[in-house]
Amino acid sequence: MTPAPSQPGRARRPAPRPGNHVIVVFGATGDLARRKLLPGLFHLAAAGLMPDRYQIIGSSRQVLTDDQFRELARQATGEFGAGKPAGAAWQAFAGRLSFASADLARTCALIEAIAQAERELGGSPGRLFHLAIPPAAFEPTVAGLGATGLARGSRIIIEKPFGTDLASARALNTTLHAHFGEPQIFRIDHFLGKESVDNILAFRFANGLFEPVWNRRHIAYVQIDVPETLSIEGRGDFYDHTGAYRDMIVTHLFQVLGFVAMEPPTALDARHLRAETAKAFDALKPINVRHAVRGQYTGYRGEPGVAPGSQTETMAAVRAEVDNWRWAGVPFFLRSGKRLAASRQLITLGFHEPPLRMFPARVAGTPHMRRDEIVIDIADPGSITTSFLAKQPGATMRLGTAEMTFRYADSFQAANSLEGYERLLLDAMAGDQSLFTTDAAIERLWEISAPLLDNPPPAQPYAPGSWGPQPALDHLTAPYHWRLPGTGTPS
Ligand code: BG6
Repeated sequence: MTPAPSQPGRARRPAPRPGNHVIVVFGATGDLARRKLLPGLFHLAAAGLMPDRYQIIGSSRQVLTDDQFRELARQATGEFGAGKPAGAAWQAFAGRLSFASADLARTCALIEAIAQAERELGGSPGRLFHLAIPPAAFEPTVAGLGATGLARGSRIIIEKPFGTDLASARALNTTLHAHFGEPQIFRIDHFLGKESVDNILAFRFANGLFEPVWNRRHIAYVQIDVPETLSIEGRGDFYDHTGAYRDMIVTHLFQVLGFVAMEPPTALDARHLRAETAKAFDALKPINVRHAVRGQYTGYRGEPGVAPGSQTETMAAVRAEVDNWRWAGVPFFLRSGKRLAASRQLITLGFHEPPLRMFPARVAGTPHMRRDEIVIDIADPGSITTSFLAKQPGATMRLGTAEMTFRYADSFQAANSLEGYERLLLDAMAGDQSLFTTDAAIERLWEISAPLLDNPPPAQPYAPGSWGPQPALDHLTAPYHWRLPGTGTPS
C-alpha cells in the first residue's frame, strides 16, 4: 500500500537539491574547516547532494595558492572524512576549490574571486559565507561583508559560541542586523544537525506511545549528559576564555533541551519549530548558582595557552528548570566536561516510581534503586533504549534491569546518514532555518545564564579520567543519580 501523502504545508520540506552556489569558508585553514567542513562538503558532493554547479572558496588570513588549499583539503578529508579523497569524485570536487586571502588589505582579491566564481557558474547562484573563525573575528568580518556589498542577497552561517554573555550576544546580533536580515542569518549548532537529535521530534510527535507520558506527571528528571575523554586539544587560547559552560552547555546542551522540552509544534517548519523552542527557553528559570558545579581537571593550568592561575572550568553541570505546566518541578541536569571517564552523549528521562512498593526496594545487580528510564544516545549513529524492571526467571520474585533498544545502525542504512554539519550546510544552502537558532533564543539562554556567569562558584579540581568533582556532582542530582556511570547503559 502506498502511504498517503502528508498534509501539504505542515511537514518540513523534503530536502531538495540546493540551487547553484558559491560557498566562502572563512577560517578555511583552521581546525573546524579541516575536521568537519571540508570533509563534510566532500561527503555531500560524493553522495550527489551538492548543487549541480558550485564553487568553494577557502579564505583565511594566511595566503595560500589554489593548489596548496586543495592539498590541505585532501589531507583533511583523508584524516577526518568518511570517504577517501581519491578517484573521479575527488578530482571533480578538488576542481571546485580555490583560495582567496581574507586579509583586510586584500579584500579586493576575495571580491574578485567571488565575482569570478559567480561568472563561471552563470545565472544567479546563491552565495553562502561560513564564518568558521574565532568569535573575536565575527564582528569585523560581518562589518567587512557589509562594507564591501557582499552581504547583499547572501546567507551567512555563524559559529558558536555566539557571544560570551547577554551583552556581547546582543552586540553581535546588532552588527549582524546592520548588514543581514534575519532570514539570511544561520546561527549554527551542529548538535541540532545530528540524526538522533532530529529524531527526538519523530520519537515524540510521530508516535502515540511516548508523548502522553512526556511530562511532569510521569517524568521525575531529565539528564543531558555529554562527558568527553578529549582534553582541550591544543585549543588553550580559545578554551581558557570560554570554558565548558559557554563551549557546551549554553550552546549544544540547551539546544537539545529545547527539543526535549518543547510543546508539539503545529508544523515542522522553521517558524513553528523555532516558536516552540523559544517558548521552552522563555520558561527556563535563571540558573541558580547553588544548582551549578564547576570543575577543572588537574593539569589543565599547564596546557599551552592557559593562564597559570586559570579559574576556567573544564567541566560544568547545572540543574535547569523549565517552569511551565508540562515540566514544573522536573529537574533538567546538564553536564559536560573534558578529560572525563568516557565520551558519551546521553539524554535520559527517568520515570516516577510506581505508587505501590510490592517489590523489594533493592534490586540485585543495580547499585541504586534504578528507575524506568528512556535513554536517547545521540552520539552517531545513535540509539534509544528503554530500561525497566523485569522478573528474573525462578521460583522467587526477584527483579532485574531489562532493556529494549533501537539502534540506528541496525535498523536503517548508515549510508543515508549525514553528519550534523553536512545536514546543516545543506539546509543553509536550501534556506531552511528550522534547525538554526534565532536571535531571541540565543539572547534568552545568555539571560538565564547571567547569575552563574556573574557569580561563578569556584572550579573544583578533578582527576583526569574521573567523572568530575565529587561529592558535588552527586549532591546536585540528589535524590536522583546520574545515569553515567552506571549499569545497563546502552552500548
Ligand atoms: C564543539 C566544542 O562545539 O563540540 C568542542 O567546541 C566539543 O569542545 C565538540 O568537543 C563536540 O562535538 P562532537 O560533534 O565532536 O561530539
